[in-house]
Amino acid sequence: MSKIKDASLATQGLAKIEWASREMPVLNEIRKRFEKEKPLKGIRIAACLHVTKETAVLMRTLKAGGAEVALCGSNPLSTQDDVAAALAKEMPVFAIRGIDSKGYYECLNSTLDTKPHITMDDGADLINTLHSKRRELIGNVIAGQEETTTGVIRLKAMAAEGKLEYPVIAVNDTPTKHLFDNRYGTGQSTLDGIIRATDTLIAGKNFVVAGYGWCGRGFAMRARGMGAKVIVTEIDEVKALEAHMDGFRVMPMKEAAKIGDVFVTATGCKDVVTVEHVKLMKMGAILANTGHFDVEVAVKEIRSLGKTREIRPEVEEVSVGEKKIYILAGGRLVNLACASGHPSEVMDMSFSDQALCSEYIAKEMKGKNLEKKVYDVPAKIDAEVAKLKLKAFGVSIDKLTPEQEKYLNSWSEGT
Ligand code: ADE
Repeated sequence: MSKIKDASLATQGLAKIEWASREMPVLNEIRKRFEKEKPLKGIRIAACLHVTKETAVLMRTLKAGGAEVALCGSNPLSTQDDVAAALAKEMPVFAIRGIDSKGYYECLNSTLDTKPHITMDDGADLINTLHSKRRELIGNVIAGQEETTTGVIRLKAMAAEGKLEYPVIAVNDTPTKHLFDNRYGTGQSTLDGIIRATDTLIAGKNFVVAGYGWCGRGFAMRARGMGAKVIVTEIDEVKALEAHMDGFRVMPMKEAAKIGDVFVTATGCKDVVTVEHVKLMKMGAILANTGHFDVEVAVKEIRSLGKTREIRPEVEEVSVGEKKIYILAGGRLVNLACASGHPSEVMDMSFSDQALCSEYIAKEMKGKNLEKKVYDVPAKIDAEVAKLKLKAFGVSIDKLTPEQEKYLNSWSEGT
């Protein structure tokens, strides 16, 4: 039924899932409630997510809620094969690390074969395949969920062209997701991926961060925290201004190319680091991407500049004349390909949002003739996740007095 690398890795995978679970208190609380209430009974969910220990905790939560769940990977290099093996004992899993493009789409299609009522995407590949090649399944779907910025951008483009055929909730866009996952998750896991792959010293290095969205902000902050001199490149005036006032140097990539030791793309766009930039770079420059797709660093063109060899796992050396340039993870997500993705404590919030949105779809969107557009996560879900996370951290906060509440709702009191 499943397609995984090696079933004998299950014991190791199970230990990893247990390790993640201890740091996911909000999701555990939701799972306990789901076990009792079964809000997802009769619902089939097809998920296309990075197959990690944290994703496994989400999948188990959905199953505890009564859903029938099938999972495939959302990137060929992010699957943790031991986790996939453990999870395959409990549900269909179609994911193998290092799988080729044909195999990747076969996995997606196997997941769709379960005829989902809910699609859960990280990068919109499932929705894309469903809308382009598996249109016969569209009628079964109540709604979809999208986990990442790149996916949300694509879905909004589909909706604008009238091509989106069912409602989708943009989980990425809700504050308890992007303020934490994109910022603190990407910030830490990207640095972790670069260090694990290269063992390079961060302190004193010139880091060039392309893109000052939540992921770029988080990474720039963490790299600076370890002593890097951080340069930001942007195409958006407001974000560039923000980076400048946050104390980073801001300049075009053509200038940054001459100075940088380590380049990290976090833009969601293509051709951010190209051959033209590589030609300007210093000996030994390291190129990494932390955006969803492997299009931000023009890897194919850069490889064509000279001989290439794998000098360490996921570190590819390209000889450009006398100069050596190093590409990490073939330009794929460095945080998942070279490290283990975001820490469990951060994924706790993102995946609690996903679990509660699945419940919302099953209870409140089912049977309604909703507009085929991208929806925000309901505010009550965001508030619930924040409340439970604060409780788990042992943090308490103030409450408005009735007088304060009245004041905030009035306009008559002034100086
Ligand atoms: N995206 C980034 N980090 C992740 C993780 N640990 N699990 C699933 N998806 C992720």
